[in-house]
Amino acid sequence: MTRHRRAAIGAVFAFVVVACAIYLARGGADAEPLPGQPLRTLAKSSGLELGTAVRADVLKRNRAYRQLVAQQFSTVTPENEMKWGFVEPERGSFEFGPAEDVIERAREAGQKIRGHTLVWHFQLPDWVGELGAGELRAAMKEHIERVVGHFKGDVGVWDVVNEPISDRGGLRPSVFQRKLGQGYIARAFRLARAADPGAKLYLNEIGAEGVNAKSDRLFEVVSGLKRDGVPIDGVGFQVHANLEGLPDSFVANMRRFAALGLDIAITEADVGLKMPPSAEDLEAQARVYEQIVGSCRAVSCKSLTFWGYTDGRSWISETQAGMGAATLLDDQLVAKPAFFAVQRALGG
Ligand code: XIL
Repeated sequence: MTRHRRAAIGAVFAFVVVACAIYLARGGADAEPLPGQPLRTLAKSSGLELGTAVRADVLKRNRAYRQLVAQQFSTVTPENEMKWGFVEPERGSFEFGPAEDVIERAREAGQKIRGHTLVWHFQLPDWVGELGAGELRAAMKEHIERVVGHFKGDVGVWDVVNEPISDRGGLRPSVFQRKLGQGYIARAFRLARAADPGAKLYLNEIGAEGVNAKSDRLFEVVSGLKRDGVPIDGVGFQVHANLEGLPDSFVANMRRFAALGLDIAITEADVGLKMPPSAEDLEAQARVYEQIVGSCRAVSCKSLTFWGYTDGRSWISETQAGMGAATLLDDQLVAKPAFFAVQRALGG
């Protein structure tokens, strides 16, 4: 091989290595454009914030995922990165980095942050479960003050208490309920308000869409908070749905909470399907999504968040055996019938 030839091969090799490095550093390929107007633009004309749950690690390393989050949504909720087990794995030692990364990206994209969540029975660090009542009370205070204080000004809305009601309509026997009694709910709201008077404070609940024992109990708890002057601004309905659709009483249910003078949000919408879904399933799913948007609009909800927007990054397939395909885009970031249904329901 001549010297020139060797040099040429070396140059091509170096070029390929550099090109690959740049490609990987950028996080891969650009997203294929989605048809029609972005969801956030469509939602804006009806005064609705439109959001998705996001994952800090994926935002960081996947360019297409990041681009679509920025393009389609006006709010983001860190899916796990602000939960107690994540931010304070050891007592008093805080990890805010991944949530801060999400906030940084959101700032660049002109998005608001929904903070999720301060007091919840799940994804708690082990040490919280081991505390006695007095210590738990102190730890809850410390946790709310530190986390809300840290993100003050960056987080517009906090899910202060998540899922406090059990499915049969009792107060969920979480470590907080068992050791501190029902008063932990009011106290959490008061502490959050003191830590950031500018943030809207929500109680967020799962499976309380219809009028039933669970939502009746939720209504009783929330009415009590309002009556006692506890600083609660809104109620979030998660809306993890499936092809059974939404209960007929969903809108009426949300209305009774709105009538207490509270903001309403849909905070974690998705529609799980049995895998693999048929074409009919995907059409039926689109109708449920349409119903979700319509219900939200019927009560002038402030905000609608999807719990992830691509089937490749959704907790449904990760946690529910045999279920999946729950979001608007498939795992290749291609629009499903559900995406077009949401566009239409937003007036697009
Ligand atoms: C889920 C996340 O999506 C998963 O990644 C995690 O493993 C478990 O939690 N209700 C909530 C959310 O309020 O925080 C949950 O998120 C889904 C149910």
